[in-house]
Amino acid sequence: MERNHGLDSAATTENMSTALSEKEEDRREREHFIDVLSALACYMPFMMNEVVRRKRHFERLSNTRLERLPGGAKGATSVLDNMIRAVHQNSAFLHHICLNPNSYHDAFRTSQHEWDMIPAVVAHMQRIRTAKDLDAKKVFKYAGKPHHMAKVKGTLHQCYREWSAAGSLERKQAFFPLIEQLQKHMPVTSQNKNQLRVLVPGCGLGRLVLEICSRGYATQGNEFDYFMLLTCNLLLNGTDRKNMYSIFPWIERRCNVYNRADVFRPVTFPDVCPADLVSKNPGYDMSMCAGEFLEVYKSHTECWDAVVACFFLDTAPNIFTYLETIHRMLKPGGILTSIGPLMYHWASGTAAEDTRYGESIELSYDELRHVVESYGFRILHEERRVCQYAVCPGSMLQTSYNAVLFTAKKKERTDPKTQTAPDSTRAAFK
Ligand SMILES: C[S@@+](CC[C@H](N)C(=O)[O-])C[C@H]1O[C@@H](n2cnc3c(N)ncnc32)[C@H](O)[C@@H]1O
Repeated sequence: MERNHGLDSAATTENMSTALSEKEEDRREREHFIDVLSALACYMPFMMNEVVRRKRHFERLSNTRLERLPGGAKGATSVLDNMIRAVHQNSAFLHHICLNPNSYHDAFRTSQHEWDMIPAVVAHMQRIRTAKDLDAKKVFKYAGKPHHMAKVKGTLHQCYREWSAAGSLERKQAFFPLIEQLQKHMPVTSQNKNQLRVLVPGCGLGRLVLEICSRGYATQGNEFDYFMLLTCNLLLNGTDRKNMYSIFPWIERRCNVYNRADVFRPVTFPDVCPADLVSKNPGYDMSMCAGEFLEVYKSHTECWDAVVACFFLDTAPNIFTYLETIHRMLKPGGILTSIGPLMYHWASGTAAEDTRYGESIELSYDELRHVVESYGFRILHEERRVCQYAVCPGSMLQTSYNAVLFTAKKKERTDPKTQTAPDSTRAAFK
């Protein structure tokens, strides 16, 4: 199994393999995997602390003030009751992710007691059904690390983005322009159906991989985050019908709620059964490759027709390494198409937390474009696109990026600049 699934260690990808023995790497990787499962499994106490906090703060209000709320004191309590119901439902889904059979459980020989809450705690949590069952002074202990608990919440948001009907706007903004670029610059024909090899690095929950595959490309998704990999595994391999799951991705929201009902609106998914999506393309070729992008593809040379990067390039601590890998792995004439902002993931933080923070290179788009061309790519298309990323509908905070969509072609061996004319949109780029 590939290692280094976004480990929390302070070692870089490059020096990890040399600095640590293989046994030590395996031990760390297993420990990290167990930590991820523990974080998913302890969502309930983590979120119950939030319910307790709200209950405590409400209890400090005088009755007169409570009565000013919609529905009075009862209204306030019923908001907490709804929240508790939603926490139970999210927790059941997250548990399902952990328990769904997957190759990691086999490879690491995990047993449930290593990551799940102890049965007495589970039983205690299960008895909490309404706000009355909660002691406002209670603080629940849980095993998850703080940044992992943020990822648990992010996993629920990502289900919304990639797999719900409600998330289709975000997919229209980001996934479909990439697919259009691919189809335009590397079209599927009856001769090459299921033969053009397309890689989607940082593929999250795999929806873009499936969409591309269903259009006749031999597609591989790559992802290194166990939160994503485990959830993707459930969605792709443990889902046999539409709208099988229902969660409340936004219940943790404290601020910018316009309408209380917005955070209690359930999100059902998947909006399409994954098997139905790919069955549009008989003989399809789709795979997932788990592991750190640079590590996994380090020996791939001129064997991919296209790389489709969606909100991915800025995950690089050092974007030169990503570009060099992409350039090397593409066949001559192959294309890179990318959409996203430049929200460099390793831009703020300290090298003491993780050495990747100490390496971060933050290029502007014009600098990046220059660097891309310097590797021997020719820009075929570029434009600005408004994109949102896992935004709660109805929220008063609607972050959107004025992102860049660009497509670049690796020079043909013999070609130079005459083979593919740049789009007319190139000139319209602002
Ligand atoms: C911003 S998310 C985008 C997810 C998906 N492409 C989308 O647009 O919804 C970036 C993804 O890249 C993954 N990622 C980041 N660095 C990676 C690396 N070095 N190798 C593989 N995956 C990586 C993250 O785990 C995350 O799922």
